[in-house]
Amino acid sequence: MRLFVSEGAPGSLPVLAAAGRARGRATELLISTVGPEECVVPFLTRPKVPVLQLDSGNYLFSTTAICRYFFLLSGWEQDDLTNQWLEWEATELQPALSAALYYLIVQGKKGEDVLGLIRRALTHIDHSLSRQNCPFLAGETESLADIVLWGALYPLLQDPAYIPEELGALRSWFQTLTTQEPCQRAVETVLKQQGVLALRSYLQKQPQPSLPEERPVSNEPEEEELATLSEEEIAIAVTAWEKGLESLPPFRPQQNPVLPVAGERNVLITSALPYVNNVPHLGNIIGCVLSADVFARYSRLRQWNTLYLCGTDEYGTATETKAMEEGLTPQEICDKYHTIHADIYRWFNISFDIFGRTTTPQQTKITQDIFHRLMARGFVLQDSVEQLRCERCARFLADRFVEGVCPFCGYEEARGDQCDKCGKLINAIELKKPQCKVCRSCPVVKSSQHLFLDLPKLEKRLEEWLGKTLPGSDWTPNARFIIRSWLRDGLKPRCITRDLKWGTPVPLKGFEDKVFYVWFDATIGYLSITANYTDQWEQWWKNPEQVDLYQFMAKDNVPFHGLVFPCSALGAEDNYTLVKHLIATEYLNYEDGKFSKSRGVGVFGDMAQDTGIPADIWRFYLLYIRPEGQDSAFSWTDMLLKNNSELLNNLGNFINRWELVRG
Ligand code: 2FM
Ligand code: ZN
Repeated sequence: MRLFVSEGAPGSLPVLAAAGRARGRATELLISTVGPEECVVPFLTRPKVPVLQLDSGNYLFSTTAICRYFFLLSGWEQDDLTNQWLEWEATELQPALSAALYYLIVQGKKGEDVLGLIRRALTHIDHSLSRQNCPFLAGETESLADIVLWGALYPLLQDPAYIPEELGALRSWFQTLTTQEPCQRAVETVLKQQGVLALRSYLQKQPQPSLPEERPVSNEPEEEELATLSEEEIAIAVTAWEKGLESLPPFRPQQNPVLPVAGERNVLITSALPYVNNVPHLGNIIGCVLSADVFARYSRLRQWNTLYLCGTDEYGTATETKAMEEGLTPQEICDKYHTIHADIYRWFNISFDIFGRTTTPQQTKITQDIFHRLMARGFVLQDSVEQLRCERCARFLADRFVEGVCPFCGYEEARGDQCDKCGKLINAIELKKPQCKVCRSCPVVKSSQHLFLDLPKLEKRLEEWLGKTLPGSDWTPNARFIIRSWLRDGLKPRCITRDLKWGTPVPLKGFEDKVFYVWFDATIGYLSITANYTDQWEQWWKNPEQVDLYQFMAKDNVPFHGLVFPCSALGAEDNYTLVKHLIATEYLNYEDGKFSKSRGVGVFGDMAQDTGIPADIWRFYLLYIRPEGQDSAFSWTDMLLKNNSELLNNLGNFINRWELVRG
């Protein structure tokens, strides 16, 4: 075995430190120091050091792979936590660290310019160490994770200025490792007492690292989209304005039902279907129904052939739970809240052509048809899943219906999907002392068969469709960003069934006791709601050439509309109309916190009516603060101010005077 390292090549530090482990365990280990430009691995396009040439003649040339090899030789058995650290090192730490080292060594920047890039990563290490109260990253003894992270960080942290005061756990971890003999020898070999400057010539030859990605969630239009107005356009607008409304073509009578017309612009508008189990708050209203309403009104004014639809999203665990809470059946809950929603939107003057619901025979028919088509084309997989089941409630428990002790930090009230104390993601079956949140008895682990949509198999079609759809469309920047990051991480099969009663039945032998996962068929709700409006529904939904589909929603709905449903529709191969413009808002907060029904915080649709403030003022203010580029907040004092200054003083006076001038 031969290890090639190079002075000044950062990866050489951890591999040399790890090499100590293999000594005496394997055939002889030779260590050669070569120049950083030496092509040790003949088939790589760029010189790469460190490299481990194995006795078989094969090469390992990633720092982590070499370190792992040495640890395995020394009898180490891999564990999940170490693997998780290594993943984190590669995806989070390295990008930030390369940028910081580049700034420091090549560009001569200092202080916060450098530290600012890496502070978050350092804090993460520090907090993890102090939370688990162990000296090393993966427990009581030093592991592969410690060596890899120490080697990566050493060049920067050897200067104590780059360990922030408050990160005591990080400092003592770093010092413990640095004082160990193999690490000290590695430092001598690689840095030759020049400190961090030893890396300069190596780094200068590397491509300039891109800065770690900022969260580009801003919805501000990208620069190319900012249009300027020509004098000619202004002149046309002035003439049209002076002629007044009379010069517009007469409104055409509303057809019933509205159907697409060949040769016309046909605009199909959907608002995300609100969950039926609660009263919508102002954030829900601006996120979907009101935003879509304004566009629908605009579209009708333009004399486009417009259909605007929405309805309540009625299936799923949340409805079943609400029914238990209120002592009603799920159907009774849906009927009760469907009416509440419809009344609220009527009061807000939302101009739906249809306000339907998802619990209808059409929903079952269309969902099962799409499913059969996907199945017949080989896009459905089957697998068994281990889940918690409460025998007393006689049901499988969705993650948020179980609570227990966090397996990582011991917090007593960890949820089934995540621990609020240590922040780690949890697999519900790993919770210690799990409890059913409804009846407090202890659930058991049961295995159950489920169906999965084979997204990896559909990924290529999806990308082709996105490639054609996105350019020139009105997808908001946040929606583009969310879809891009899902694709970048690679799609995985998605479970589309649940062990529940309240849902669309799964038409497959052995699945009689299951229903479709609410997010598999919620988006099919748009189709079935249209089918309940007209038996000609396919003219809208299987007519991509003639119909422009605009879908409005809050950003948490983007993956289902921009990715999961398009995959189902593409896989079903039935010429479905797919979203052309996906318009997603950020979130609306209430004063300086979040809306919360359970804590009674916020303004809910029914309360808005009770204030005596007219619907148009609510509409104006909600549109004024619409969370387009970033989260925004509802504020009572701001509403007062905006109403008096913008709506009354500015717009009101302007229209009044105009009326006077025109006589
Ligand atoms: O987030 C929500 O409120 C969901 N009920 C939206 C569903 S949209 C469509 F897919 F039905
Ligand atoms: Zn229970």
